Order: sequence, then C-alpha cells, then structure tokens
Amino acid sequence: MPRFRPLLVCAALWFLALVPARVRAETGAEAWLRYRPLQEEAARQYESLPAGIVLLGDSLVLRSARGELIRGVRGMLGRTLREERDLPPEKAILLGTFSEMKALVPGLESRNKLHDDGFLLATQNVHGFDCLIVAAPTDRGVLYGVFALLAKIARNESLSPLQDIQQPAAPLRWVDEWDNLDGRIERGYAGPSIFFENGNVRADLTRAAEYARLLASIGINGCAINNVNANPRVLENEFLPQLARVADAFRPWGVRLSIAVDVSSPQLIGGLNTFDPLETRVSEWWAKKFNDLYRLIPDFAGVVVKADSEGRLGPATYGRTPADAANVIARALRPHGGIVFYRAFVYNHHLDWQNPKHDRAKAAYDNFHPLDGKFDDNVIIQIKHGPIDFQVREPVSPLFGGLEKTNEAIELQVTQEYTGQQWHLCFLPPMWKEVLDFDLHAGDGPTPVKDVVSGKTFHRPTGGFVAVVNVGMDANWLGHPLAMANLFGYGRLAWNPDLDAKEIAKEWTQFTFGNDTLVVRTISQMLLESWHTYERYTGPLGAGTLTDILGSHYGPGVESSERNGWGQWHRAGHEGIGMDRTAATGTGYVDQYRPPVARMYELLRTTPDDLLLFFHHVPYTYILHSGKTVIQHIYDSHYEGAEQAANLLQQWQSLAGHIDEDRYAETLKRLEYQAGHAIVWRDAVCNWFSRTSGIVDERGRVGHYPSRVEAEGMQLQGYVPFNVLPAETASGGQAIECVPPARDCSATLRFAGAAGWYELDVEYFDQNNGKSKFRVLIGDQVVDEWIADALLPASKPGGDASTRRRISGQALRPGDTIRIEGTPDGEEFAALDYVEIHKLP
Ligand code: GCU
Repeated sequence: MPRFRPLLVCAALWFLALVPARVRAETGAEAWLRYRPLQEEAARQYESLPAGIVLLGDSLVLRSARGELIRGVRGMLGRTLREERDLPPEKAILLGTFSEMKALVPGLESRNKLHDDGFLLATQNVHGFDCLIVAAPTDRGVLYGVFALLAKIARNESLSPLQDIQQPAAPLRWVDEWDNLDGRIERGYAGPSIFFENGNVRADLTRAAEYARLLASIGINGCAINNVNANPRVLENEFLPQLARVADAFRPWGVRLSIAVDVSSPQLIGGLNTFDPLETRVSEWWAKKFNDLYRLIPDFAGVVVKADSEGRLGPATYGRTPADAANVIARALRPHGGIVFYRAFVYNHHLDWQNPKHDRAKAAYDNFHPLDGKFDDNVIIQIKHGPIDFQVREPVSPLFGGLEKTNEAIELQVTQEYTGQQWHLCFLPPMWKEVLDFDLHAGDGPTPVKDVVSGKTFHRPTGGFVAVVNVGMDANWLGHPLAMANLFGYGRLAWNPDLDAKEIAKEWTQFTFGNDTLVVRTISQMLLESWHTYERYTGPLGAGTLTDILGSHYGPGVESSERNGWGQWHRAGHEGIGMDRTAATGTGYVDQYRPPVARMYELLRTTPDDLLLFFHHVPYTYILHSGKTVIQHIYDSHYEGAEQAANLLQQWQSLAGHIDEDRYAETLKRLEYQAGHAIVWRDAVCNWFSRTSGIVDERGRVGHYPSRVEAEGMQLQGYVPFNVLPAETASGGQAIECVPPARDCSATLRFAGAAGWYELDVEYFDQNNGKSKFRVLIGDQVVDEWIADALLPASKPGGDASTRRRISGQALRPGDTIRIEGTPDGEEFAALDYVEIHKLP
C-alpha cells in the first residue's frame, strides 16, 4: 500500500530521533565520517552558518566537495544547505579554486601561498556579506578543505572568525592494498577484497567508492589496489578496462588509481623472451602498455614494484640493478605524468644462518645506497620504516639517511600483520611518531625522517608516505572496531607528521564515538597505551616480534625465526640473546647510520634498552639501564603486558551504556580475547626463556600456576592427551583432544577449594578448519556452552589457536565436579589445554 509509506517513513524517523545517537546500532561502516547530530548547545554556535553554497567551477571532485558539505551539515546540524548558482544577496559558503574565485573575491589570490593539495578556510567579506570561503589551488584541495571544515564542526570548534591554512607535508600520500585478483588479501584481516573477486574486478564497486571517500577525508591521494606480489594479469589488455572502472570509482574523491606490477610482465604476458630492463624491446613494451592504459585512465597515478624479493623475479636475473628496472618503467610513465614506487624491500631470504656476519637488516641499504642518484626523477624508493619487516619495535631504516639524490617515501603498515592482526588492539601512531621524529643526523641541523621523506632535507622534487592498509568487506573495514584509528592516524600523520599521537587519538575518538568526555578520555587512553602493552607481551627489548614467522605471523613462536634463511634472527640461546650488529664484533650494520647514530648504537652503554637486543648479543644476566637483568625484564614485561591487556578490557567495560550496543559488544569480544591471548603469549615466551636460560623468575611466577588444572590431568572420557608443538604454546606442553570417531568427549575435575563465588577460565584451541562445540557443567547443570568458530589464523592446536572462555559468577562448593564436554568438527578436535579457577572478591 504505497500511499501509507510516507507516513511509515515519518514514524520511523520520529522514532529514530527519540533514540539517543549513542545507543543506536552502528556497524562502523561510516568510520570517522558519522556526522551525528550535535548536542543542542554545541549546535547553537553554528546558527549563523550561511544557508547557501556557491560552487565556483565544476568537476567531479568539486561536486563531491559540495555534496559532502551538504551531507555533513545536514547530519550534524539538521539543515540542508541550498545549492546556489550565483552569489545570493546574503552571506554564503563559497567553494572553489583560487583561480575560479579570483573574479568574485578580489585579493584572495594574494593569500595563496599554497601548492598541491593545500587549502584555505576563511571568513571574508564578499559584496558586503561575511562569507565562508574554502579555497585551494586544486579541486582536490577544495575537497580537503571541506572535510577540514566539517571536522571543525564535529569537534564543536568555533568558525568565527575562520582562518586556517593547511598544507600537506609531502605531495605523495598513498595507501597500498595487498589484494589478490581472486578476492583474498595477503595479510588482510577483515574479509575479502573490496576490489576483486574470482579473478576480476568486482561488479559492485560501491565499497571501493566509499573507501575513496574515507581516504580523501584524511588527505590520501593515491591507492594501489593489488598485492605487491603482483599477478601480471593486471596489465593484460582485457584487464585494463576493469581497472578503469576502479579509477572511475575513485575519481570523484581525488584518489588516483595505482597498481603493483611484476617486472617480468614483458615476458610473462607480453610474449617477449626477456624482461631485461636494458633491452629496447622491453622498454618499448612498457611504453606501449602505458600508452594503452592511459588512453583508458588518463589520471592513472603510476605503479608499485616489488622485485628481487621473497621469490619475486627482478633485474638481478640479468645482472641489472633496481635503478635499471625502475627507470625503464618510469620512462614509459613519464610522458603521462606517472610515477614508480620502487620498494627497497629487496633481500635474500636464503641467508646462511650459521654465518654470524650475515644480516638481513643490511639488505636495503646495501642494495640501494650505491645507486643513489641513478634513479629517474619520477621514481620514489619506498622504504619500510625499519630494516626488517614491520616488527613491534625496530630502529629506523638507515636507508632514509643514505639517499641524498633519490626520492624517498616511508612505508608503514596499518594492517596489523605482526602487531596482532586486528585481534589485538595496537594503536600504531605513537610508534610511527618515534620513527618520523628520529633524527638521522644526515645534514646540518636536525634531519628527522619526516623531513627526509617529504623531500625537504635533500630538496627532492617529490616524496612522501605509503601505508599498507588491506581493508576488506567487513562492514567496519578492518575487523576490530578500534583498528580504524590506525588508518585515520596514518592519514593525519602523512598530512602533518608534526601532529601529536595524543591529539590524533582524541580526534579519532571524537569523530568515531562522539564527544562524551568519559568516552573520549577512556578510548584515547586505551589507544595510547596499546602499542607498549602489545610490545610488552610479544617482543622484548627490540628482539623482534617473537611470533611464528614461518606461518601466520600470529601467536607466540620464539624459535621459528632461528635456523632458517629468512634472517629475522634474535639468536637466543642458553647463554644469551640478541643480534650483534656492531661494527666492532658484529655484522657491521650500525655503520649504515650516520656517525652520531652509529656511535649511539655501537655501544651497549648508549643503546636504549628497548632496542638493546636488536643491536647487541648479551648474556641473560646483563643489567639494563632500568637496573633489571635482561631475563628478569623478559619475565616482568610479559606479566605486566598481560595485566595491561586485562586492564584495557576493564577500561572498555567502564563505557557500557555510553557506546552503541553493536560496537560495544564487538570491541568487548575482541578485548576479552586479547586479554586471554596475552596470557598465552606471556606463558609461552616466559617458559621458553626459563627453560632455555635455566634462570628462574625471581618472583616465582613462571611455570607456577596455582589456580590452574591441566586438562591432561583431569579424568578423561574419550579425550586423549597429546604433545603440542612447540611445547611452550600449551600449558605443560600438552593438551587433550577428542579424535574422531570419538564424538562426545569429556574432561572432569573435582573442585577442592573453599565454598564461594568463582570464575572459570577454560583454555581451548579454536582453529579455522572446524567448529567444535563445548559445554561446561557444574554437577549436572550446564553453566555455559559455545562453538569455537572464531576465524583465527590457525589450523592446528598451538599458540595461534589458544583461546580463553571466561565463565564468571559460579558458586562452587568443595567436592563439586566440573565437567567440560567437547564435540569435534572437521579437522578441529575440541582440544583443551587447562582450566583456571579464580575466587571472586
Ligand atoms: C612481509 C609479508 C609478506 C609481504 C612482504 C612485503 O614479509 O609477510 O606477505 O609480501 O612483507 O612487504 O612485500
């Protein structure tokens, strides 16, 4: 009955208006662009906002700017700005480039000290009316100005008078997505690709367009959409029109499309028998390929190249250099204005681990420093922030200070590959700030990394920032509701690396959760603590993330980095730990830094504790600046980290009722998991070091778990004990499993403590190849049941699968039986590690 519809819509709107915004269900899809209605008092200061917008000029980007302003003001202030064709006889908001504004606002041009994507927000008298002006040298700058204006309103900042000039630190602010054409994402933790499925670009690119809008709102102007381990098919002629569709989705938001290319494409898909960059046939192939591509995508940004790295082919095949490979592609792109990001992540992953002089950390500098000045001007060397690979703590790459005549960009990682894969909260801007502010001593006066990559230090024509993001189809983009703070923080720092991590955390929280003081204070605090917390239980003293580096890069795996060619060694043995990278006795890596930095890291005395094991091999009894021995630091920091993870959970719980239900519940679930998994990490790492060093924890905690009952020690029916490998990833090295054809297995213990209220922690293994069922009974009463269906990156019992189920508020009396029943499914055998029984206060 269509005629009743308007009535229904009105009723629904009226109802929605009654529900306070903070308790309305939200998916997180809007990220930081929620534009929720302001509180009445805050809204009042915008009462004098003009009613109309005049758009000077016309383009897709300018229209997005106007549309966004209308959308944002409508959402926050409940008013729909009028689109005016000409200046009305009253005040108005004027949007446009300086050149378009010239005629209408004389004198404005003289205030244009901006270039690239900068913008000016100002109140100015135009024809007798106080107008609000958003002006920029480019259309994209106007769009950025609009987002900045809306951000001010969202944060309740005054607009009168308005006078804000912003200029991004560097021209290139990109994101890379490691999406495969089949729709899977390498190191992506939030569902399948928003760009590809089944070998093609997705039919529906709605999410791609929404993503471009989010990127634009934080000033990102380029996006490479496919895995750096590139499928050469992206350059096949029949694929190019598909790429053009993505470029179309990006274009209204000023985000330029880029792709990662395989340097062997001329051979793999081009029909040549070579991809030697110095062969004319090869350079002609690239030139023709980009001519074809630019015909379809005139604003194509350029390409990203990973070569001679981790099994990828590269110029080394022909004895050529990265400069040869980069330049042949750059020359084909140059006539069209395209650029090449050539990744410095070039290293040999078959190093001889027995050779104490071998050192993967040296690879980027060794490969690229000798080529300084040999790269064309439209080539940018994309350098991972540390010399290894996005570990939880690394020193900055010495290559930043080693290229004076070459463009550089820093590569950061938003997707939390080694930092908890969005199951753990780990807000990275504080880490990035340390990197960006690090003084390389590469010239007269301070030369922080941020100035080098922006091109300022060595007066380079271009440079900038890249982050690997890997958003997916999950409604909230990155899986963990708080993980988008990293993408936001990246964008803000790429725009202005002088910003403070604290301010970024606050801004993001305000945009994402509103201005409630308790919420802003609590979430900002949680974000700011989280990197150190994660570091404390996963990677002590610069040893690297002690994870399973051969598999999923998730969960503890202390030994996996040793005795193989990948070179992520920490050299922990019976007597000590750490990589000796000194010039005097080690690999000589420190000499890749400029002398003042090299001197600092060469000496134990001047090396900061948190990087000690990156630079030095020391006995476990070595005394840190903190006064603790290395071994005791390892124990203490893991216990502290696990406690802090539990504290993150408590902080979140204090926000119950202040946050909409869905985001509250999803975050709660992940923080509960993290608090449990931090204990898995703590125990695995501490037990491994205790066993290896033979030195006991002076506080008697490691290996002693008074409230723990091992599953293998319970009365078992159907369940059988087995050894978990590596042993430290299960308590006592063993667990129990219910191997088919057994179906209904159980493990029973008799409670021997005093009567009272207790909480039970059941530690079980949740793999991604089955959905086992669990039930817990006290006596005959079922007190909890669940299905192990989390999508953890684990296919067998171990530190990556180990998960805690907390069952709180249980009354126990001496002699009670506690029975855990497990039903296997698929390859997952309802494996159990232990139960801990804690008395409640
Ligand atoms: C890491 C990551 C790989 C990725 C590589 C890269 O090693 O684990 O998946 O391909 O970095 O940055 O190229």
